[in-house]
Amino acid sequence: MRYDRDKLDKIKEWSSRQWTVFKPWFLKRWRSLSAWVARCWRVYSAPDNRWLTVPCTVAALLVLLVLVKSCQGIIYYNSNECKVYRLGYPIDEARAIVGVLSNEQIDSLVVRQEHDTIAYPLLDERYFIAKNFDRYLAFHKVKTEAPLTDVVAIVNVKGDLDRVESATPCDTSKGYLMLINGRHYLDKDYKPANLVPFEKTYTYEHNRANSAVVDAFMALQRDCKKQTGAQLMVNSAYRSYEQQIDTYKRNEKGYAALAGYSEHQTGLAIDVTSLQHPMRWPFDKSKEGIWMREHCHEYGFILRYPERQSHIFGFAYEPWHLRYVGTETARKVHDEDITFDEYYAFYIEGTDDKPLKR
Ligand code: DAL
Ligand code: ZN
Repeated sequence: MRYDRDKLDKIKEWSSRQWTVFKPWFLKRWRSLSAWVARCWRVYSAPDNRWLTVPCTVAALLVLLVLVKSCQGIIYYNSNECKVYRLGYPIDEARAIVGVLSNEQIDSLVVRQEHDTIAYPLLDERYFIAKNFDRYLAFHKVKTEAPLTDVVAIVNVKGDLDRVESATPCDTSKGYLMLINGRHYLDKDYKPANLVPFEKTYTYEHNRANSAVVDAFMALQRDCKKQTGAQLMVNSAYRSYEQQIDTYKRNEKGYAALAGYSEHQTGLAIDVTSLQHPMRWPFDKSKEGIWMREHCHEYGFILRYPERQSHIFGFAYEPWHLRYVGTETARKVHDEDITFDEYYAFYIEGTDDKPLKR
């Protein structure tokens, strides 16, 4: 079906004109009209006039059809699809937008009376979350040059919001999947249960982590040694709130989180280098460093701060920092080449979306 925006406007104008003219006319003649209908009914129901049944039924059906069609037109005119269409979106785009957004979001689109050129392409973005739609549009207006994929990723991880105002307590009930970043923090008294020490051979200092992390690291280092001949070593693992204050002071800006905002406080993060390359940067280029980054997901770890996505998580690239999330999630994060922040926003928090209707 083809829709013509001007025609729709004309129909609306015409119908409202008809209504304003017809209403007083109808009210004025109500008595004579009802008398006329009663007379018709008497004629129609007289035994001699049975032959009127067929033409009258046809006429009544025609009137009914016209009424139904008019009602359909009025209902369609006031539907979300038609409202979005009237903003200037082609009908296919209007349908897709309506299929995804809530009534409130459509109302806010209509109130602005603008045709956002990115509204429809946004729906095609792999990690599009409908509840963030208005924020995608607002962020794009500020960062017009940013690719849509970045707009979606940054807004999903709340990168468009004020860091302090948007900070929320970490949901520790998520276990291995709890999210700690610049906007999700732990209480200063939070201390993970189940901390166990690493064997002395594999750690420079006395380091502890969640027992699942220690087990996964042992398997990782064993296979790394088999494949590369090098010995992975844990530099740092669980750090209390107080220890993190000290780490923050000692580290270069961008390489340490504020106390309360560090994954190390969860007992699920470890900093790893090797006996052969104990310093962080040569370790980055070493064959065991490369092997570790390529294979850590098989053991339930992710490289939490990868090189290309620092604008999404807000820290510098850290080729030594592994975070344990379990093998299923680690594989997904690795295969989809996304950060854990994006994974969390999309797969854990953003699941209340309507499916795309195309
Ligand atoms: N190095 C990371 C960002 C931390 O301090 O938790
Ligand atoms: Zn670290």
